[in-house]
Amino acid sequence: MPAMPLRSSRKKTVVLGVTGASGALFARRMLQMLEADARVGTIHLVISGSGLKVLREELGLKVSRRADLPGLLAARPVRKTVYLLDSDIGASIASGSYPVDGMVVIPCSTGCLAQIANGIASTLIERAADVCLKESRKLILAVRDAPFSRVHLENMLRAQAAGAVIFPLIPSFYHRPQTIDDLVTQFCCRVLAHLGLEQKQQFRWGRSSGSSE
Ligand SMILES: Cc1cc2nc3c(=O)[nH]c(=O)nc-3n(C[C@H](O)[C@H](O)[C@H](O)COP(=O)(O)O)c2cc1C
Repeated sequence: MPAMPLRSSRKKTVVLGVTGASGALFARRMLQMLEADARVGTIHLVISGSGLKVLREELGLKVSRRADLPGLLAARPVRKTVYLLDSDIGASIASGSYPVDGMVVIPCSTGCLAQIANGIASTLIERAADVCLKESRKLILAVRDAPFSRVHLENMLRAQAAGAVIFPLIPSFYHRPQTIDDLVTQFCCRVLAHLGLEQKQQFRWGRSSGSSE
């Protein structure tokens, strides 16, 4: 019988959830970087109804055919992205038996956070996230809102206690971004590092990085 390949030797399968919080540029860059990463074999892209509304609002996407959506979001042709409907609760990623290496919800609405934190799995994004928690797989929630209410903060604690990484859409500035693109890219690099996909272009703070001014 042929030996099973080691888990680390196969390409990664990543779920990318996009919900209705502001920050569509982060979803675009995340999809582009996952597509470009040779270590990633499959990306399952799920966009909530409100997520689509925000993509239209912030990126000016004009979607006439659903099948075009991944390419429009990535602003370039996609090769390994499988687009799934948020209502498709019977999709592969809704089951723990389907091997997934990690999931990132970016941007993650406070509504989606609330559902995940409380084990409510009524959409595919919520169910796939719930599966990650129950299977002890990496789940990264790039929550965005401002300011946060006590309810939001408590839900973050609940989700984090259940195993999620709360990665709020708070970019860093110590790498001296010159453009919004720099800022978004560095944020996505940090998220990808948490998925075990360190990026060459990630800025790393070190002795030589600091200013002597
Ligand atoms: C343009 C726009 C921007 C929004 N920005 C946010 C936001 O930053 N954070 C948030 O939690 N909700 C935001 N919302 C509200 C969510 O879209 C709304 O709560 C929605 O029900 C979330 O559903 P979902 O989690 O299924 O995507 C925004 C809505 C719109 C239309």
